[in-house]
Amino acid sequence: MLTSASEMLKKARAGKYAVGQFNINNLEWTKAILLTAQECNSPVILGVSEGAGKYMCGFETVAAMVAAMDKSLGITVPVALHLDHGSYEACYKCIKAGFTSIMFDGSHFPIDENVAKTTELVNAAHNLGLSIEAEVGAIGGEEDGVIGKGECADPAECKMIADLGVDFLAAGIGNIHGVYPDNWEGLSFETLEAVNKAVGEMPLVLHGGTGIPDDMITKAISLGVAKINVNTECQLVFAEATRGYVEAGKDKQGKGFDPRKLLAPGVEAIKAKVKEKMELFGSVNKA
Ligand code: G3H
Ligand code: ZN
Repeated sequence: MLTSASEMLKKARAGKYAVGQFNINNLEWTKAILLTAQECNSPVILGVSEGAGKYMCGFETVAAMVAAMDKSLGITVPVALHLDHGSYEACYKCIKAGFTSIMFDGSHFPIDENVAKTTELVNAAHNLGLSIEAEVGAIGGEEDGVIGKGECADPAECKMIADLGVDFLAAGIGNIHGVYPDNWEGLSFETLEAVNKAVGEMPLVLHGGTGIPDDMITKAISLGVAKINVNTECQLVFAEATRGYVEAGKDKQGKGFDPRKLLAPGVEAIKAKVKEKMELFGSVNKA
């Protein structure tokens, strides 16, 4: 059931668990995540970056595909279709296309411009029943060409942005997109505690969920994180499973070259990974 992310994240914050945002890259990703969420009776957020939206032939195509699959697969758990790391322009495109949630990534603007654009988009989103995420402190690493510095957010800036009426907030706490380097110093729980104190009951978002140790995830949830984004980890397991299928020569056995067979191991790998994360985040049976 397509819905905004507001209610599911308020419940998660209050219930001290997190809802996974799993980025989609094509039909197979979408099907794997939706079926796993239904099987786990878990709310779920489908993240769509601008690059993935372009790859999937535009935000309208994505919205139509997700709405149709939500219906044809008989999905009853809450599903949010969320623009990930959206530019100002992309936010309006996704509002128009039928998304149920948007993220305005204004962290690269001077704070006063971030505030002005965020205020405008909060009103536009809420007038149409969408939820909206904002970001303070650029997330490190690279995601679809979005390169951040891995900053730690300023709690005062977080409160300023939170007070604009956004529904959830991504505060940089040393998290990084993609695979973490060996010399990564871990999450800054000091920053997270300060941000949590500054923004009250605002659900917080942890980007760069790939590869963060389980104990750090659990601690982050205890300190107000209610949404955790994962993309790279699903891409890695999909690639590994597909490679295994081909290296075993299965694509050469019978109709093994059929894409429905060739892609199946990767789809199963994504389902297993999404289930693993939903169990870790505590969102199973929370629909
Ligand atoms: O916005 C998407 C997530 O932050 C993805 O992060 O690729 O490191 O899992 P990840
Ligand atoms: Zn991200």
